[in-house]
Amino acid sequence: MTPPYSLDDRLPADHYAGALREDVAAGLTASPKSLSPKWFYDARGSVLFDRITRLPEYYLTRAERMALRAHAADIAEQTGARTVVELGSGSSEKTRILLDALAAAGTLERYVPIDVSSTALGEAGQALSRDYPTLAVTAVLADFEHELALPPPGETGPRLVAFLGSTLGNFDTGQRTAFLSRLRSALTGGDALVLGVDLVKDPAMMIRAYDDQQGVTAEFDKNLLTVLNRELNADFQPGAFDHRAVWNAEQERMEMRLRARVATSAKIPPLDLAVDFARGEDLRTEISVKFRREPLTAELASAGFAVEQWWTDPQERFAVLLALPTA
Ligand code: SAH
Ligand code: AVI
Repeated sequence: MTPPYSLDDRLPADHYAGALREDVAAGLTASPKSLSPKWFYDARGSVLFDRITRLPEYYLTRAERMALRAHAADIAEQTGARTVVELGSGSSEKTRILLDALAAAGTLERYVPIDVSSTALGEAGQALSRDYPTLAVTAVLADFEHELALPPPGETGPRLVAFLGSTLGNFDTGQRTAFLSRLRSALTGGDALVLGVDLVKDPAMMIRAYDDQQGVTAEFDKNLLTVLNRELNADFQPGAFDHRAVWNAEQERMEMRLRARVATSAKIPPLDLAVDFARGEDLRTEISVKFRREPLTAELASAGFAVEQWWTDPQERFAVLLALPTA
């Protein structure tokens, strides 16, 4: 039997022509210069991220997997979910732990991976529908900042929304507030949220995780310039920039930055823009906020979520939490 697999392309037609241009026009004319991390994930970016998750320094994925393995059965029991919807699903590897637990509990029917990377989504979706032949895998290519694209509650509930990997940390405070409120509005009673977040810890450990010895994270960071060159016909010289991982202690977040090694400039023809970088100037390419239990619980409460469970790996590097929408 052909596994039930479908892919719904909901990316706006002008995703690159419109949204990327707007982001670049605003971010590269601002001071300091910055861009949204969502543009990392073309085919090569998704492969590089996958390599990052296996690096010895990138503890996040292993720590989250430990917490998920230890508590997936509790999540299955407490949610009774028929549908798992995952935001920013990537390779969906860790999600299999949740899918297995819900399948064992006998409730699982459908998996809805949502991602902006068509290659990651396609590969993960095909592999899952091969390995879970009775699971309906209905993948959605979408930008969750633009549209949440959840399946309707009636036919598919109860729904468990998974937002793993500390991708929430790639939003700043204002973006998080807006995003969590939108997510809450899309949920109904009986639905649940499983959220994976990286925790504040020794800065040296975090800096190593974002500046690995093999240079995979540096390659991932510089791939953003390759995306701009291809999609906007720009002429950035990735070799003119150094990758930097900086701990911003005041805002408790890691920041990835590309620092101009020499004075350099790039032309972006569709925007009729030439961007100059002074020697030593930074382009911030990503923030990765690290969380603490009390403030995050309060943030979720303001958005309409009650944290029911807070689990961590044994070393308390990473938390997986189960939250329910409040009335
Ligand atoms: N959840 C996986 C992958 C994390 S990497 C894990 O825990 O390992 C972040 C993922 O989110 C990538 O696959 C990327 O393509 C996706 N992503 C980033 N911004 C997005 C957006 N705005 N909309 C949809 N997907 C996004
Ligand atoms: C996807 N996101 C949560 C990762 C992170 O840790 O912020 C992306 C990443 N950046 C560098 N390494 C991994």
